[in-house]
Amino acid sequence: MEFRPTLSILLHALLLCQFVSESRARDIAKTSPEETLNPQLNIFFTPKDLKIGKMMPLFFALKDPSTSPHLLPRKEANSIPFSSSNLTYLLKFFTFSKDSPQAKAMEDTFFHCEISAMNGESKFCATSLESMLDFVQEILGFNTKLDVYTTEFLKKSPVTLQNYTILQKPKEILVPKLVACHTLPYPYAVFYCHMQKGENKLFKISLLGENGDRIEAAAICHMDTKEWNHDHVAFRVLKVLPGSSPVCHFFPVDNLVWVPSLSM
Ligand SMILES: *[C@@H]1O[C@H](CO)[C@@H](O)[C@H](O)[C@H]1NC(C)=O
Ligand SMILES: *[C@@H]1O[C@H](CO)[C@@H](O)[C@H](O)[C@H]1NC(C)=O
Repeated sequence: MEFRPTLSILLHALLLCQFVSESRARDIAKTSPEETLNPQLNIFFTPKDLKIGKMMPLFFALKDPSTSPHLLPRKEANSIPFSSSNLTYLLKFFTFSKDSPQAKAMEDTFFHCEISAMNGESKFCATSLESMLDFVQEILGFNTKLDVYTTEFLKKSPVTLQNYTILQKPKEILVPKLVACHTLPYPYAVFYCHMQKGENKLFKISLLGENGDRIEAAAICHMDTKEWNHDHVAFRVLKVLPGSSPVCHFFPVDNLVWVPSLSM
């Protein structure tokens, strides 16, 4: 099983830490001036940026199916413990040494999965598609048809960071609720799925990169950031004060956004 944790761990941690109030998460969120320059932070924007012709530098990690962790069927996933209390056993099981980057990544994944949900947040770590769908239906309704939004590469060069221009008027997908599922680094596919109360706006945005890349990107705007951790890196990147501005971000290509189907 191929499992190479990369810098995207950092990005996921940054995206998640707004929901995490413990000091460890604050440490993750705290950036020194050098870290602020991390190219992977080029995902944040504000609603003011949502206009045709707007250009911004954005980071989109390449998707390599040959190295992406596989989704396990529920039966198989359930046969492997998924808990920090089993870390020693799991490191043996996956044959990683306890000081390896893989061990660190697994530990971080358990941290995000085991920390309690913030006020107004429902969260769940899914280790299979079936368990993801169970959680999504629990939140969005058992009799609700679902749609899923993702970021899609229509044409992608190997350049991860480049200037992109918004090609068309961003399309707002009007949904009462949504569940966002972010991949977490683990030897098999694990998704951190969560629903946040409060006003969130979902957008589909057509982007043209300066290298000819074409991306149909999914993005979310969190309209109320008053309750956010003041150290959240988004405020530094956008140079806005907590609560003074909505914070929007693009979704990486392997994330899933579940919404009630509009075609009902
Ligand atoms: C996983 O941890 C739990 C709780 O500590 C323990 O009861 C269980 O036996 C462990 N499973 C394995 C496979 O080590
Ligand atoms: C994007 O364009 C601006 C203005 O032309 C330029 O200064 C900047 O270096 C470009 N950024 C990237 C990542 O190419």
